[in-house]
Amino acid sequence: MLYDNLSVSENGHLCFAGYDTAELAARYGTPLMVLDEDRIRSRCRVYKHAMKEHFPAGSMPLFASKALSFKGIYAIMAQEGIGIDVVSSGELYTALEAGFPPGRMYFHGNNKTDFDIRFAIQSHIGYFVCDNIPELEAIEQEAAQQDVTQKILLRLAPGIDAHTHEKINTGRIDSKFGVAIETGQAEELVALALQKPHIALCGYHCHIGSQIFEHTPFCDAAVMMLDFMAQMQRKYGYQAKILNLGGGMAVPYTEKDPTVDYSENIRKISALIQKVCREKSLDVPVVLMEPGRSIVADSGITLYTVGGAKVIPDLKNYLMVDGGMTDNPRYTLYQSEYTVCAPEYMHDTPDMHYSIAGRCCESGDLIQENVPLPKLNRGDLLAVLTTGAYNYSMASNYNRLTRPAVILIGDEGPRVAVRRESLSDLIRNDV
Ligand code: LLP
Repeated sequence: MLYDNLSVSENGHLCFAGYDTAELAARYGTPLMVLDEDRIRSRCRVYKHAMKEHFPAGSMPLFASKALSFKGIYAIMAQEGIGIDVVSSGELYTALEAGFPPGRMYFHGNNKTDFDIRFAIQSHIGYFVCDNIPELEAIEQEAAQQDVTQKILLRLAPGIDAHTHEKINTGRIDSKFGVAIETGQAEELVALALQKPHIALCGYHCHIGSQIFEHTPFCDAAVMMLDFMAQMQRKYGYQAKILNLGGGMAVPYTEKDPTVDYSENIRKISALIQKVCREKSLDVPVVLMEPGRSIVADSGITLYTVGGAKVIPDLKNYLMVDGGMTDNPRYTLYQSEYTVCAPEYMHDTPDMHYSIAGRCCESGDLIQENVPLPKLNRGDLLAVLTTGAYNYSMASNYNRLTRPAVILIGDEGPRVAVRRESLSDLIRNDV
């Protein structure tokens, strides 16, 4: 099986984190997002321990909570003692409500509003990752207003092409995120930040993309960033303490994807950073990383109920499910690959090829195409694996569909972490 928390029971049912998925679906209904809490926690520890071992004191992972955001997930991250990246007042508020310590929060985003900046400073957020000059001015102004010195990192574009999907590639110089080193705008932002009385510049950040299998793009980015650090030290006498290398390590979605050894990648990135720092006579900075997908993606599955099949002779076979692009927009957006299976018939041989269609009024509302499966009928279940990241967090109410429930399977068994949306939830803001 794709992951070691998946197994098949004697009666041919798919078990996830030790629980029969058919029983979970019967108990909680579908569509259902199921998360393996132990696996999430152990992935946090892989990052935390490797970063502690290979980087200077204070180095740690920050969970990029855009990948999965609800109170329970922030509570887990708080208990695991790692930091988080938030990108909106909404994520910040959810984390605060879950009791996450604000000092370990980093506020990202290319366009923080005045409200975001005020709310974050009032909440004693640890750091802003400042994206651009107008934003720097706005943070300075609000920090002055609240009479605090605000810690920030600067978001730089190191110009690395991580050879990933175009829409999720964020480190190139034409990116909407941050300021490029190559154009001189990064230096301009540093010079300005150093002059601001209510700003404490603590270091630099970059994020080069997502679903990256190799360690080399991270090393390339680190070299560019360290080179910039050394230049700024020479020119302005400013020694950055923190280097945040962003997120982006991949997870396998299908059997043909390679597995990723996160600790080993961290070890290799560390070896390179130490070598470059020696060559450039730089102190080795505290290193932060912002894994999102690789913390939660392969700890989640989605269960659907089949509404029926539609066989169009010699053309296409659709299998229609009770969710779709509203709970998983990733195939519609990026043609992302997933492993799909029939969780009640794991012993059966696939004799059909189905396109999995959602229930939106939208031809592109597909979860996957051409999937080998046994023949399925109305009422059967369908499972999509590796849906823990960027599924629930990107869910919408298009066509006024309700968002699924989220179940966390922890030491004490399964529990509801987010209730299924009700019809009345849909109209709660309508006046
Ligand atoms: N840090 C920053 C500044 C980011 O922009 C991102 C992701 C991360 C960390 C986490 O990256 P990860 O470790 O998850 O790859 N919706 C797309 C992914 C967009 C990623 C955006 N930024 C998807 O579903 O594939």
